Amino acid sequence: MSEGTRNTPIPRDTLAAILESATLAPSSHNTQPWRFELGDNGISLFADRLRALPVNDPDDRELTISCGCALFNLRIAAAHAGFNTECLLLPDLDDEDLLANVLFTPVSGAEDRQTELFRAIARRRTYRKRFEPKQVPSDVLNILEGSAETEGAWFQVLESEHARHQVAELVAEGDAAQWSNPSWRRELAAWMHPRRKGDGLTVPGMVAPVAQLVVRTFDMGNGVGAKDRQLADESPVIAALGTAGDGVEDWLKAGQALERVLLRSLGQGLQASYLNQPIQVAVLRPKLQHLLGRSGFPQILLRLGYPATDLPAAPRRNLQEVVETADTRDIKAKQAGHGRQR
Ligand SMILES: Cc1cc2nc3c(=O)[nH]c(=O)nc-3n(C[C@H](O)[C@H](O)[C@H](O)COP(=O)(O)O)c2cc1C
Repeated sequence: MSEGTRNTPIPRDTLAAILESATLAPSSHNTQPWRFELGDNGISLFADRLRALPVNDPDDRELTISCGCALFNLRIAAAHAGFNTECLLLPDLDDEDLLANVLFTPVSGAEDRQTELFRAIARRRTYRKRFEPKQVPSDVLNILEGSAETEGAWFQVLESEHARHQVAELVAEGDAAQWSNPSWRRELAAWMHPRRKGDGLTVPGMVAPVAQLVVRTFDMGNGVGAKDRQLADESPVIAALGTAGDGVEDWLKAGQALERVLLRSLGQGLQASYLNQPIQVAVLRPKLQHLLGRSGFPQILLRLGYPATDLPAAPRRNLQEVVETADTRDIKAKQAGHGRQR
């Protein structure tokens, strides 16, 4: 395609393939809180606040980060399909759900098709098991630092044993706080669907209704905290990803940076999972900030390492459920009480 085709509609199949990649992004509780509207020359990304987690994530911070991850996949898949993208964050201040407009323009020459990052999209998993006891070389960590910076965020590895131990303690403290809250447990249980398919969390070795009942009923904070503390303590890498500010645009940047870091990690043979409790529990976040000893706001706390086994992919919703026309979107938004004023 030549530059002159800027206004030629993008084939629907190509758009569908790009959107499939976007939906493979990680999201808190696997809520997949995104919606997409198709235009002739691009895609608009919306937050789907019907999928918010008001207890775990009262400001929709993680919801927005999740959408940022989907946005990053969308950009990489578009590059792989032969498009440059122009990405405008928060293009309409009267519409808080519209997070980004992504305009596609055809690539004219042999631009970087982002093959390594693209291939990693489908292979990335949240790896909650123990990692291989193998160090991650410092040049790999430097690459990940650079990846976060490319997207306007920072990635800081906790180097000292003391700092790592302190973080592990904060994680356990966060677990205790969350599990002692029945509303938090109920919200988590609500995303462990016994019947619905396509989103939510599954618990290995437990049938969904049992897992749901257990989570809803029992404060397992001590047990979960002890397990998480051990996982944190023995992980080859613990790192925080953060941003200079703590607003919606920062969260979108954090999401894009997170996904770039995760996909780049995979290229180096690493997988990751989350220890976000000290950020989710508001009183613990300043303690983590203090431990990091830098200005700015931690958004995500990760453990990274070499996986010992392959994991199956977590479920995803069909594209029909996340791609919308402007009309269906307005109806849903009004139902959610976030309707656009027209
Ligand atoms: C912003 C954000 C926060 C997350 N927080 C946690 C978390 O606290 N604990 C956890 O186990 N997984 C967390 N996850 C991972 C999701 O549960 C995971 O992405 C989802 O279940 C889909 O699985 P997948 O990543 O393997 O595709 C988080 C993901 C994102 C994007």
